[in-house]
Amino acid sequence: MSVTTKQLYDAASNDWQRSEPILLSDFTARPFLLKWCEPVAKLNVLDLGCGEGYFARGLKRQGAGSILGIDVSEEMVRGAEQREAQEQLGIRYRAGDATDLTAIASESVDLTVAVFLFNYLTLEQTRHTMHEVHRVLRPGGRFIFAVPHPSLAFLGDKVAPFYFDPQSKGYFSGRDCQFEGEIWRRDGKSVRVRSVHKNLEDYFGALAAAGFTQMPQVAELRATEEHLRMDPTWFGPLRDKPLHLAFQLRK
Ligand SMILES: C[S@@+](CC[C@H](N)C(=O)[O-])C[C@H]1O[C@@H](n2cnc3c(N)ncnc32)[C@H](O)[C@@H]1O
Repeated sequence: MSVTTKQLYDAASNDWQRSEPILLSDFTARPFLLKWCEPVAKLNVLDLGCGEGYFARGLKRQGAGSILGIDVSEEMVRGAEQREAQEQLGIRYRAGDATDLTAIASESVDLTVAVFLFNYLTLEQTRHTMHEVHRVLRPGGRFIFAVPHPSLAFLGDKVAPFYFDPQSKGYFSGRDCQFEGEIWRRDGKSVRVRSVHKNLEDYFGALAAAGFTQMPQVAELRATEEHLRMDPTWFGPLRDKPLHLAFQLRK
């Protein structure tokens, strides 16, 4: 039986600790998402699946107000708190399941972010969590999240620097199935990741059912020409492939 997500991240928490870009997605996704979150000044932010706080720290440095990060891995939260003790940004972290937001008051959050959380949740958990995100957002508040691009698992070889293995499953038959994968760090080390596969219909359907009625902004993130110039060997295998899918919604 495969390890739970909590076990996976508890065991690998040291490999996720970072104060500068090191993982592939620190180049291909997080800088874009941090810009997308602007303007963040003084916003009350909820970071679901916050990990060791890399993204939350980025938001705080951009001027965000209060930030609460929630992660199911106690070791990731411990890492976040250790970093907070070293560089006091005033971010609060809590070990807990992002599918349970009952402790958070309705319409109390300006911005909810979830950077590579939903790929760990089943479709049912995703629907429930998006519904809860809608509840806790204030009218006009925003919801920004990113997931692995649903096509990626079916486009490439199982090689560095990023892949998911769909085994024998296809784009439709693999819905709600767990694909194991790896993402590489620039120092040559890889970390295990996984994706409970969901297709575009699943994401758009879950958002609509949650109550998000305005057209979302959608971005398909990739290795850009700038990345390829910076390190052609590392980014080269990903040329022209959709890596991540990002959504921005307004309540
Ligand atoms: C790929 S990491 C991303 C961490 C962070 N968002 C970042 O961008 O650096 C995914 C995180 O989601 C967390 N996670 C997975 N399932 C979760 C759940 N049900 N509730 C809370 N956190 C969860 C994992 O423990 C892990 O820290």
